[in-house]
Amino acid sequence: MGRVSEPSSTPWWRDAVIYQVYPRSFADGDGDGMGDLPGITARLPHLADLGVDAVWLSPVYPSPQKDAGYDVADYRGIEAMFGTLDDFGRLSERAHELGLRVVMDLVPNHTSADHVWFRAALAAGPGSPERARYLFREGDGDAPPNSWRSVFGGPAWTRVEDGSWYLHLFDSSQPDLDWTNPEVVAEFEDVLRFWLDRGVDGFRIDVAHGLVKADGLPEWDHDQALLDGSAATGERPPMWDQEGVHEIYRGWRRVLDAYPGDRMLVAEAWVTPPERLARYLRGDEMHQAFNFDYLRAPWRAAELRAVITSTLVAHETVGAPATWVLSNHDVVRHASRLGYPAGQEPTSGVGPDDPQPDAELGLRRARAATTFMLALPGGAYVYQGEELGLPEVTTLPAGVRQDPSFARTNGEDTGRDGCRVPIPWEGGEPSYGFGPGPAGWLPQPELWGRLSVAAQTGVAGSTLELYRTLIARRRELHLGRGTLRWHEIDGGDVLAFTSADVLVVANLGPDPVAVPAGATLLVASGDLDAGRVPTDTAAWFRLP
Ligand code: GLC
Repeated sequence: MGRVSEPSSTPWWRDAVIYQVYPRSFADGDGDGMGDLPGITARLPHLADLGVDAVWLSPVYPSPQKDAGYDVADYRGIEAMFGTLDDFGRLSERAHELGLRVVMDLVPNHTSADHVWFRAALAAGPGSPERARYLFREGDGDAPPNSWRSVFGGPAWTRVEDGSWYLHLFDSSQPDLDWTNPEVVAEFEDVLRFWLDRGVDGFRIDVAHGLVKADGLPEWDHDQALLDGSAATGERPPMWDQEGVHEIYRGWRRVLDAYPGDRMLVAEAWVTPPERLARYLRGDEMHQAFNFDYLRAPWRAAELRAVITSTLVAHETVGAPATWVLSNHDVVRHASRLGYPAGQEPTSGVGPDDPQPDAELGLRRARAATTFMLALPGGAYVYQGEELGLPEVTTLPAGVRQDPSFARTNGEDTGRDGCRVPIPWEGGEPSYGFGPGPAGWLPQPELWGRLSVAAQTGVAGSTLELYRTLIARRRELHLGRGTLRWHEIDGGDVLAFTSADVLVVANLGPDPVAVPAGATLLVASGDLDAGRVPTDTAAWFRLP
């Protein structure tokens, strides 16, 4: 309790564990099958017990929910289905009482097609100032202005009645804004102030690498993916990681710096290599950026070690802390991703007809991966339900899937619904404690009964108790502020480092590995084998 007000010279976010709440699926207060703010507020003690520092809420703004809220119709309100601004005030107040910071999700690359700006743009017609807030262009006869593809599949252009086209890097219901327009810049600085005035501690910036497009929207004839840093030819895509984005973040930083307390910005920027990512973290830009290279690394020591080293080196050059993340609402949950042979881990959706993960292997590796991750220096992100060891729900029928990428690719891309299934709190059907209603917006599997918060609380060796122990020890030992030094351990596919007088070992190879004599166990992801660390297990030791 009271951690928020503790005086400290180090800003809280530098070593924070930040918990991502996906509001649709966290807790349903009113029983309509959809999570909401009162539901979240009532469950905040779970986060305090888990020991995290902050909660990041995926978007809760008014939205037609064509992309689960990442299509914002009004940046200064709360979606009725989630509650009201007063409900948000109560959530924020309760969080702060419990010592939890609150991070909002800001979606600046595009608005919803229902936003007043886009409606006005459609009504005003070609050449109008209303259209100049978006990227309207004339096509070439019946062909779109260029060949860009949407990240969710299909063309990135949609034609309107008068024949013009507008750009949408995502769904057609998510028109891209024109960030060279000063009105757009001013509007978002004002939106930041709106939430800062309401006491929020930071913002996660959606698609932070996408806001500015190369001049003239040059051709890009490659398939489009959010994850693409560059084409096989080495060319950089004209819609990602353009120089102009940095000026925007400098402006935002000035806005945040005018407020008391340590307010922060974290970039969702699918940018490689880490030197490019670090440019978002220069002293006058953002504070953190998600490290997706780490999330995407295969379960092999050499690759993980290389990613960690290059991450730390790149972040060091700008004085920013690294962040570590294994799951979020866009990727296959790591308890399932790691249930595939090393090097074959899928990041995008898995459906009923795809090869299925080995659930036992996945959970074992996921526990080891998290144990290892939570010892790394810097900040860490935890996605709701991973503390329960939840797997991806791979068996969702096509009829219930809501991710636009599923529909836009005619099901070729399974989409992200499998990691968004409402989480289990206690009891059994119909909703495993998700809410008082008959069922959640996506069906929950029977397995949820055994994995609920109540079923795991106080159970030695449960994934939930492992997370609680890891987060508490990480704090006591100041591991987030440690300095990593690689440590050589003989034999196999092993990762080992020391930090803050702790030895951290992850064994990714088949045979158990011995640790130095006198090292005493602090916490492990699974049982040790006569003092040795077995396969797919990670452990922390105090050095003699
Ligand atoms: C980000 C979000 C994702 C969303 C997309 C478009 O990648 O994390 O969920 O679909 O942006 O806003």
